[in-house]
Parts: sequence; C-alpha cells; structure tokens
Amino acid sequence: TWDTVPLAPPDSIFKLTAAYKADPHPQKINLGVGAYRDDDSKPWVLPVVRKASHILLNDPALDHEYLPITGLPEFVSGAARLILGASSPALAEGRVVSVQTISGTGANHLGALFLSRYYHFNGEKVVYLSDPTWVNHFAIFRNVGIEPKTYPYYDPKTIGLDYAGFVKALEDAPERSVFLLHACAHNPTGVDPTEEQWAKVADVVLAKKHYAFFDTAYQGFASGDLDHDAKAVRYFVQRGVPMLVCQSFAKNAGLYGERVGALHLISPTKEAADRVRSQLSVLQRSEISNPPSYGARVVALILNTPELFEEWKADVHTMAGRIIEMRKELHRLLTEELHTPGNWDHIVKQIGMFSFTGITPEQSKALTERDHIYLTVNGRISMAGLNRSNIRYFAEALDRVVRG
Ligand code: LMR
Repeated sequence: TWDTVPLAPPDSIFKLTAAYKADPHPQKINLGVGAYRDDDSKPWVLPVVRKASHILLNDPALDHEYLPITGLPEFVSGAARLILGASSPALAEGRVVSVQTISGTGANHLGALFLSRYYHFNGEKVVYLSDPTWVNHFAIFRNVGIEPKTYPYYDPKTIGLDYAGFVKALEDAPERSVFLLHACAHNPTGVDPTEEQWAKVADVVLAKKHYAFFDTAYQGFASGDLDHDAKAVRYFVQRGVPMLVCQSFAKNAGLYGERVGALHLISPTKEAADRVRSQLSVLQRSEISNPPSYGARVVALILNTPELFEEWKADVHTMAGRIIEMRKELHRLLTEELHTPGNWDHIVKQIGMFSFTGITPEQSKALTERDHIYLTVNGRISMAGLNRSNIRYFAEALDRVVRG
C-alpha cells in the first residue's frame, strides 16, 4: 500500500517558517510568510480583537451550536458591506451571494469549485493567473479540474507592472475567459494597477465578456484605509463586470489561525443569486458541512458595533503604517547610507505586505544560507518581518549579495 505515492516537496512558504524556528542564530529574520509582526518581531493580537473576544467569552448566551451552512448571517452581511460598500446597489438589489469560507484559501476553493461545475467555459476549463501570483492559486484551481495559465503582470526590467502585456493578454484570450485579479496589494509583487489602468482593464474585461475572479486578502494593508483598498472591486461591480470576490480576514484582523473568510458572488439578478446560493450551499455541505464559528463571531462583532469598527480601523492603520515606515527606512538605508548599486525606488512604490526586491534566486538563497534571512526564492520579502532592531542587519546583508 502507498508504494506508488510520490514524496511531495514541502510547501515553499510554510517550510521557511519551520526552518526559521529551527535556526538558533540570534540575528535570524523571517521574511517568508505574509504574517504581521510588531516592532519586537512578535505576532500582534489586535487590541480590538482582544476586546471583542472578551465580550464574546463573557456572553452567557454564547453556545457552540452549528452555524448555518452558508455561515453566520451577521458576519457574511458585514463582510459583504465591508468589501462592496454599505451603499452598494448590488447589495440593495439582493444580487450578492455571500458564503462564509475557511479564510481566503477556502473562498478561492469554493469559488473555483463553483466555476468548475457551473461556469460556461469557452472550450477547456482554464483560469488566467498573473505571472507571478500566490503559489497556492495553481494548486487550488488544479484541484477542481481548472487548468491555470498565466498572463503577463510583472516586468522585471522596471520592477513594476507590465501593463501593455496584461491588457494584451486580456484582449487575446478567448471570450468569457476567467481572470484572477488581486484586488489590492498584489501578492507576491506589491505592484498594483493605477485607477486609470483598472478602468482600462474593466473596459477590456467587459468587451471580451471575461469573468473577474477577485482575490482580496489585504484590504486595509495597502493604504491603511479599508475603503480605499476596496476601490477596484467596487469599481468593477459598478461597471457591471461578471465577478466574484474571495475575502480573507487573516491579515487585516490578525486572525490567521481562525480561518475567517467569505466568498461573494455578484449576480445579474436576485433570481440568479438565489439559484447560485442554493448550489453553493450544496457544495459547502458536502465539503465542510458548516464553517467554524469563533473567528466569524469576533469579526461580526467588530463589523457591526460602530465603536469597535472605529477601533479596528485604527489597528489596521497601525499595521499599515508600520509597514510603510519600514519601506521608507529600508529605502533610506540602501540609497543614502549603503549606496547599494541599482535603483531601489520600488521598495517605497510597492504596496502592502510584500516587496519584490528584484534579486535573483541565487541571491535569495545566499541571504538564507549566509545570513539566516528567510525569504521565498523569487526575492519576495514580507515587509512585516522587518523592524527597527533588524532592518540594518537586513539592509547590510542585501547590500552584500547585490555587490556579489
Ligand atoms: C503568504 O503568501 O505568505 C500568505 O498568503 C500565507 C500563505 O497562506 O501562503
């Protein structure tokens, strides 16, 4: 038995956390997984999350009953308002189907599974992913029989967006293709389209009748402003693009292990939404029966209590602000103090949790092997892993590998 099971390699992101934990070196740094750390390299339980948990745990009415199959109603409705906007006409018209999922990964999976069953693919089942994208996207779509192809996105020459290549791929793809779009704070590059570029992307998506599969795991992390980071999604809804949104609260509420997320599918009519909801419910029942309740209750309390919501906005701002500070400081160290060869402006231009440094896989590996700095081999660094105590060590190590 199992003689034919091939040995799989470890996960390219989570293996870094394991290696970092096992490393006794005092100056080791984990810039691998996208998880926020405070200025002491510690995980940060958001003060608002502590407060909401306290309220919940002291509520004598709290029980451990099953949630409905599609999730906690006050969580999914609050989550939909957060990403689509409280005054979204699509919400008012009852055209949005929202289902609670196992964080963003679960939302991607359920969305992909639904498309694999019910979307009218133009020929083969294909999804177009940005080159590069979060590595897990490939496996998630393959698992449900949808073959990933890539579209040009990142241009290594400019360490920026390959806008012309992106638009051409949208134009050249067969009509009704499915395109996965990162709503903000693109993972892994930190490179986002501008508002004008999003407008053009929407034009082509509409002209070619493509389907927009939005992934949003960093709302609030890009700018520190939850509404600002939802702009692309809201704009696409307003333009009437056929679309769904995968939403995660892992990063912006610091609820990584609680697996809080939602899938929102925007339908043309309420009647279509009701049919879609019924089938998503059937799929969810066979996969997880019903989603976990604790994290969803915490987020629901925050989203639906005005004072807690204001506190959450301040916490998100704290996290985004610290990351932006680290971008500025890294840029300053490289350009003004160390005079590291090359242009490092992308460090301050890129957005969100990650920065694509532009270094080669060999240079990334050298940082890990020589300097005990853990990062993915594509040169992505999680900015949240940097702080006032370790940023100089990192900048000097980066300077050394760049000089060769
Ligand atoms: C990352 O890209 O580091 C995060 O989204 C964590 C994960 O699940 O890979």
